[in-house]
Amino acid sequence: MTTTAPGVIGTPWSSSATQAVLLGGGEIGKEVAIALTRLGVEVTAIDRYDGAPAQHVAHNALTVDMSDPQALTAAIRSTGARIVIPEIEALATGALVALEEAGEVRVVPTARAARLTMDREGIRRLAAEELGLPTSPYVFASSPAELAAGAARVGYPCVVKPVMSSSGHGQSVLRGPGDLEAAWRYAATDSRVDRGRVIVEGFVEFDTEITLLTVRSRDAASGETVTSFCQPIGHRQVDGDYVESWQPQALPAGAQERAQEMARAVTTALGGWGLFGVELFVCGEEVLFSEVSPRPHDTGLVTMASQRLSEFELHARALLGLPVDTSLRSPGASAVVKATGESRPGQGVLFTGVDAALAVPGVDLRLFGKPVAHPGRRMGVAVATGPTVAVARQRARAAAQAVRVAH
Ligand SMILES: Nc1ncnc2c1ncn2[C@@H]1O[C@H](COP(=O)(O)OP(=O)(O)OP(=O)(O)O)[C@@H](O)[C@H]1O
Ligand SMILES: [Mg+2]
Repeated sequence: MTTTAPGVIGTPWSSSATQAVLLGGGEIGKEVAIALTRLGVEVTAIDRYDGAPAQHVAHNALTVDMSDPQALTAAIRSTGARIVIPEIEALATGALVALEEAGEVRVVPTARAARLTMDREGIRRLAAEELGLPTSPYVFASSPAELAAGAARVGYPCVVKPVMSSSGHGQSVLRGPGDLEAAWRYAATDSRVDRGRVIVEGFVEFDTEITLLTVRSRDAASGETVTSFCQPIGHRQVDGDYVESWQPQALPAGAQERAQEMARAVTTALGGWGLFGVELFVCGEEVLFSEVSPRPHDTGLVTMASQRLSEFELHARALLGLPVDTSLRSPGASAVVKATGESRPGQGVLFTGVDAALAVPGVDLRLFGKPVAHPGRRMGVAVATGPTVAVARQRARAAAQAVRVAH
C-alpha cells in the first residue's frame, strides 16, 4: 500500500512505492528527480516533448500537453502517484485544484499556489493588496489604450510583461510613450499563453536583486510546519533571463530581516510544504517584493555548490515531510552555458571544452541533456565554490565560457 505519511518511504517499482509525478522535466525538474530518487522515491517525469532532461533520470517518463486539463488529469491518474510536483508554470492548474480537492493527490506546495503564481496578476494582488507587501507601482491592462493609461499612471521608465510568461519572454522596458505600441505587440507575440493582458510596473532602480530561498517543512519533533531561510542569492539578469548567481549576497542592516518577514508572509499565504524562490529588489534598506516561484528557482542552481543541501534536496525533503538544513557550506556562484546557434536536426547537441571547464579549481558542471539547441537556450550551468564570492564568480564564469555548444 502506497503511503505518503512523513518518515515512511517504500520501494520504487513495487506495491510499496512512494510515488511522485513531476510536471515539467527541465533542468530544475531533473535535479528534483535526482534528489527524490536518492531518497527512494519513484519518480515519473512529464514533459511536452520526449527526452526532456528529467526524463533521463526519472523511473518513468510521459509526454503530455499539460496545458490541456483532461490530458493532464488522465496522465497524473495513470501514474498512481499521490504527490504532484509542478516544475513549470504553464499548466492546467484548474485540473490540479480539482484533483487536490477530490483528495486524489497532494500538489506541492498546494494547487492554489500553482494557480496563483502562474499568473502575475494572482500573485501580485495577493502580495500587494491582501498581504500589504511593498512592490513597484503597477497597473494591469487588457488593451493598447489601457496600457497607455497604465504607463502614464505608473510613470516612465516602466516595464511591461505578459501576465503569463517567464524567463523574460514578452517583457520590455519603456522609456516613453513612443515605446507603447512595440511593447504591446511584443507582449502579445512572445507570451506563453496570449491572454491579451499585461502588467505595467514602475521600473525599480534597485541596488541588488536577490532570491531568498524559503522552505516550509515539517518539524520532526512538533509535527508543526516551520519556515527556514537560505542565505540570500544575488543574481544578474540579461533580457529578463538569469546569467549568473552567487551566494551569499550581503544586505544592508535591517534589509535581511525585512526580506525574511516578506518571504515568510507570502509563503505562509501560499501554504503547503516545499521550497519557494522569493524574488526581491533591494534599494538601500528598502525591500520590494517582485515575484515568487513555489518551487526551486533557476538562480538557486548555485546551491549545488554553496549549501550543504541544494535547493533540490531541500525541496525533496520538505515535500516529503522530512526535516531540512539550510546552512551554507561555502561562498559559491553559478554561470549559465547558453547555446549560440541551432543544433543540427536529428544529431543532438555536442559540447566541447568540458575538460577545460572542469580544470578550473572548485568547479562542477551540469549539462542538462536537452535534445535540441537554439540561440539563447540554457544548456548547462557551471557552479563553483571559492574562498570568497568574488573568486567563486570568476571560477564559474571561466568554466561556463570554456564550454562551447557546437552547432
Ligand atoms: N519593475 C522592475 N524594475 C526593474 N527591473 C525589473 C522589474 N521587473 C523585472 N525586472 C528585471 O527583469 C527580470 C525578470 O523579471 P521577472 O522576474 O518579473 O520576469 P520573469 O519572466 O518571471 O522571469 P523568471 O521567470 O526568469 O523569474 C528581473 O529579475 C529584473 O532583473
Ligand atoms: Mg523572475
